[in-house]
Amino acid sequence: MNNDVDKNNSEFVHYTVMKDETVGSLMCENSDKIFVDCTLGGGGHSEEILKRISKKGRLIAFDVDDDAIKYASFRLKDYKNLTIIKASYNDIDIELKKLGIEKITGGVIFDLGASYHQLTCAKRGFSFSKDAPLDMRFNQEQDFSAWDVVNKYSEKELVDIFSKYGEERFSKRIAHAIVQSRPINTTLELASLIVGATPKIKTKIHPATRVFQAIRIEVNHELLNFENTLLKVINLCDIGAIISLLSFHSLEDRLAKQILKAYSTCRCDKYAPVCTCQGRMLELINKKPIVAQAQEIKLNPPSRSAKLRVARRI
Ligand SMILES: C[S@@+](CC[C@H](N)C(=O)[O-])C[C@H]1O[C@@H](n2cnc3c(N)ncnc32)[C@H](O)[C@@H]1O
Repeated sequence: MNNDVDKNNSEFVHYTVMKDETVGSLMCENSDKIFVDCTLGGGGHSEEILKRISKKGRLIAFDVDDDAIKYASFRLKDYKNLTIIKASYNDIDIELKKLGIEKITGGVIFDLGASYHQLTCAKRGFSFSKDAPLDMRFNQEQDFSAWDVVNKYSEKELVDIFSKYGEERFSKRIAHAIVQSRPINTTLELASLIVGATPKIKTKIHPATRVFQAIRIEVNHELLNFENTLLKVINLCDIGAIISLLSFHSLEDRLAKQILKAYSTCRCDKYAPVCTCQGRMLELINKKPIVAQAQEIKLNPPSRSAKLRVARRI
């Protein structure tokens, strides 16, 4: 767990979840190979990779968030074998090609979802307890924000995303209340509307938690980007390279599990006379996800939902 203040004294607090387990899974000690961190964030996992690989080894790190790029660039400025790219990991194939890299020889990590900084920095509009314009964009240059979802989607589209991405029981009531109350401009307006639209039942989480999560996933196309990129990464990885996936909610973990499982078996129709897929492309390193240790959960409670899945390209 880290708590850092950047050079310009603007606070960028970040927690690196399951650092040893995630970076350890890459088995990158003294490695001369090429590694990719798809989700740079505060640079915690990247720094650990850079500490472990040799000076001839190389790390390429992606993020779309200006705050993350600025903070991590300063934090990791002394590492000459690091290249930080401000682009979506969705474009990993294009960006690696620009660098003349054809294969990821060492391994890739994804630490999915929003960073602690994004979730807690009031002005980014991710938090239902801090007042701000509805935003929730990872990429501050993107046109489409939480405001567009809340104010422009049809009632049915809202029900669908709240049910699918938030697994919210009261999707219909909440979507109806939103459509009746438009325009909704701020996080607190939305949160109090959700509280008013849902029955008063005892739960451990705030009634707006699931809807805010669903809107965030929709705004940033999180599941779609992850699925597309993981498929690209499987093909970009050289034989022996490791793919390490750290996820925080059941939808991401389910997707990770399904894709890794599918690529660790033959994907042809069972009646196909010959195998036309590329056969097994992955070997699962762990069948069950690795979870955070009790001590880490005590220090940083959100790490209790983290699940790490690891596979090797074969
Ligand atoms: C959980 S944080 C990563 C934290 C980081 N591992 C650390 O140790 O500080 C996830 C990061 O992924 C970034 N991200 C999300 N979607 C992305 C995408 N499609 N392309 C690149 N970065 C993305 C977010 O902006 C965020 O900074």
